[in-house]
Amino acid sequence: MGPLQALGRWFVTLLGSSLLNIMKSRNSPLSYLHHCSLSSFPKTFPSFPFSTSTKFRPINSTKMEGSEITEEVSESRETTNGNAKKKIFVAGATGSTGKRVVEQLLAKGFAVKAGVRDLDKAKTLLSKDNPALQIVKADVTEGSEKLAQAIGDDSEAVICATGFRPGWDLLAPWKVDNYGTVNLVEACRKLGVNRFILISSILVNGAAMGQLLNPAYIFLNVFGLTLVAKLQAEQYIRKSGINYTIIRPGGLRNDPPTGNVVMEPEDTLYEGSISRDQVAEVAVESLLHPEASFKVVEIVSRTDAPKRSYQDLFGSIKQR
Ligand SMILES: NC(=O)c1ccc[n+]([C@@H]2O[C@H](COP(=O)([O-])OP(=O)(O)OC[C@H]3O[C@@H](n4cnc5c(N)ncnc54)[C@H](OP(=O)(O)O)[C@@H]3O)[C@@H](O)[C@H]2O)c1
Repeated sequence: MGPLQALGRWFVTLLGSSLLNIMKSRNSPLSYLHHCSLSSFPKTFPSFPFSTSTKFRPINSTKMEGSEITEEVSESRETTNGNAKKKIFVAGATGSTGKRVVEQLLAKGFAVKAGVRDLDKAKTLLSKDNPALQIVKADVTEGSEKLAQAIGDDSEAVICATGFRPGWDLLAPWKVDNYGTVNLVEACRKLGVNRFILISSILVNGAAMGQLLNPAYIFLNVFGLTLVAKLQAEQYIRKSGINYTIIRPGGLRNDPPTGNVVMEPEDTLYEGSISRDQVAEVAVESLLHPEASFKVVEIVSRTDAPKRSYQDLFGSIKQR
């Protein structure tokens, strides 16, 4: 690492820890954000309600141009309770939420194609010996063609759990959280993959909600218009015709769930937090419930909220 890079890293670390301390302060207007990781922000196999085709075929050791496959499923017609495994592509699979999505999909009997930028990192983070897991290289900024190769013709749905990594590139949120997601949608359109789950964020439409001065809205847009970039991507998905579920969580926590999931319509929640385990669960459950189709849902967790079924939660949100 050169001296300039070292200085830069020190500055970002200092800035990050100072902001974290401000956010942890109970009286700080940024206290909502203390659950947000600064390093990350700016489990019977059921029926598959969204499936429009059964395009399962054995996945042999095919090498894909532009995408490196390091772990391959030798036989994709494995069954759980007599059902062929459905393969789901997860973008951002090495992220704090993405890896939980992968784990929960595998535990529920899905096959998973984990899209990652760093294969070595993925090997240390993700279950190595699970034959239902395939790891492929996929950088969402590299365009829809390469992504289509990575997703392949054997994936039935895409879950996008990407988020830009803070650094010197002020355009990173725009490149990853807007164009990157748009690239994924375009790849799906090329392949005929008709189910897309996006993990977005509450407050993306903060300006329209009268939350322009909400400290969280300001803070998250100061670093490269992160929320605006996410909203742009959401709008692209909604116009694309693809069957989507856009999940907007509150501040993300790594600790296990302490309360029950509260699900509200778009542009409703402007505070609150939720365990990443629950966000991953909502993403996986949205694949299992037709009530989740073509919907934007905002989620937090609350200890005083009643436990509700996902059918009930998704069913309570109207399509717009
Ligand atoms: N933090 C919060 O409190 C909060 C609140 C609401 C919503 N959100 C949103 O929820 C989502 C998940 O958040 P998180 O904190 O769990 O995420 P995270 O841990 O920061 O992980 C982000 C993932 O995106 C990947 N990524 C970054 N650039 C990429 C690129 N160009 N191509 C492909 N993948 C790329 C990262 O890959 P590497 O592992 O290789 O870096 C990583 O796997 C994000 O969209 C985030 O903005 C976060």
